[in-house]
Amino acid sequence: MSRLIVVSNRVPNPDRPAAGGLAVAVQAALRDRGGIWMGWSGNSCGERDPGPLRIREEGNITYALTDLSDRDIAEYYQGFANSVLWPLCHYRIDLTDFARRDAAGYFRVNRQFAERLAPMIRPDDVIWIHDYHLIPLAAELRQMGIENQIGFFLHIPWPAPDVYLTLPVSERLLQSMTAFDLLGFQTAADAENFGLCLKRSRVANPVAGQPGLFETPDRQFTVDAFPIGIDVAHFTRTARNAARNPTMRRFKDSLGDQQVIVGVDRLDYTKGIPQRLAGYRRFLENNPIWAGKVGYLQITPTSREGVAEYDALQREVAELAGRIAGQLGRLDWTPVRYVNRAFGQHILAGIYRMARVGLVTPLRDGMNLVAKEFIAAQDPADPGVLVLSRFAGAAYELEGGALLVNPYDEEGMANAIATAVSMSLERRQELHAYALAQIEAHDIFGWCDAFLTRLAPAIPELVADS
Ligand code: G6P
Repeated sequence: MSRLIVVSNRVPNPDRPAAGGLAVAVQAALRDRGGIWMGWSGNSCGERDPGPLRIREEGNITYALTDLSDRDIAEYYQGFANSVLWPLCHYRIDLTDFARRDAAGYFRVNRQFAERLAPMIRPDDVIWIHDYHLIPLAAELRQMGIENQIGFFLHIPWPAPDVYLTLPVSERLLQSMTAFDLLGFQTAADAENFGLCLKRSRVANPVAGQPGLFETPDRQFTVDAFPIGIDVAHFTRTARNAARNPTMRRFKDSLGDQQVIVGVDRLDYTKGIPQRLAGYRRFLENNPIWAGKVGYLQITPTSREGVAEYDALQREVAELAGRIAGQLGRLDWTPVRYVNRAFGQHILAGIYRMARVGLVTPLRDGMNLVAKEFIAAQDPADPGVLVLSRFAGAAYELEGGALLVNPYDEEGMANAIATAVSMSLERRQELHAYALAQIEAHDIFGWCDAFLTRLAPAIPELVADS
């Protein structure tokens, strides 16, 4: 029977709550289907060789983990992946910090991943590679003679050609992507941008009359959008059960009758946290009657420490939050709480359910699963309102079920918060019903089935019964 082999840089650590959309989504996708999940352990092996893959079985998932050396972490992960590809794909050319040595380290680590993975692959396995850390992995595997079906899914946006082509190794990277059989993107706009990059750099051409099919002189491959979702029923159940959790009860007691406004994001400059705080501040200044009646909780686990932009952002956000609390707070009221911790889903789901407003206002985001989790967590009888950036992938599906905002417009954001906190029950229910139907129609299992059916139509046993 053919097996599914998933490869991603980040693999969830069972001892810590997962931060970031990829780990949460892929875990949900693999839970029923089972398979092999290869990736980075999150640990360094110093300057030593990482040694053989560490195999760990958990339920029906076999984890195959590798350490990385300090040099690999600096060049491949912090360097090329997180200081070049991440800002570039989020339209922040100004933050890209390209160094030839990091690019070489990135291709080198992808080769190492291929060398470690290749001996595990059986002829009928299907391989699914995730995200921007591992773009050249299929090309490396092909060079080693691997002919299996190989798919790729990008969890972050793919930028417009004029942005992408500023990358000094843009063509080499695009060339390597032609080694996949199927390339999946979050939205139709991302897939279209990718197709335009292929054409502009003459790496591949569309096949006439076959939408999404591209060809090079050697091979053909498919490009399409597969918007990622969540396990809606599971999340809703978790949110309902959270009310019994003692931490949640203490949190609720600490609020009195304040309405909760919540934001949950990894500490990242793409998430628009400073802009959001500014919007909230403007809301309080424009609407003083809400002082003492709302409380904004921003949960932000730190992330990618050691990359300069992230360290600077930590200082900026802490200072902004502190200034709002200091200048607008009262003896008996703290307008904003800023918490640098990752919480498990059982806590987050409960906080979402308790909240009147969810602020998901990234400057640019591939999808943003917090938006979908917020909707799933609500009580349909008395739902909260999602305030959503039009630059999140989720806005394509949730436009009719949320208040869409431009995160660069402070006044617009302040107005949206004011609308959300005073919205009638009937209107809240209408928005929520629409959004819930959308996330149910595009859930994580549908995402997984749609991708794998396209990648390996001849192997039905890979598609789980649902
Ligand atoms: C985003 C990326 C993932 C990444 C996650 C967390 O969701 O798409 O690939 O794993 O952020 O970032 P980290 O650098 O901690 O893995």
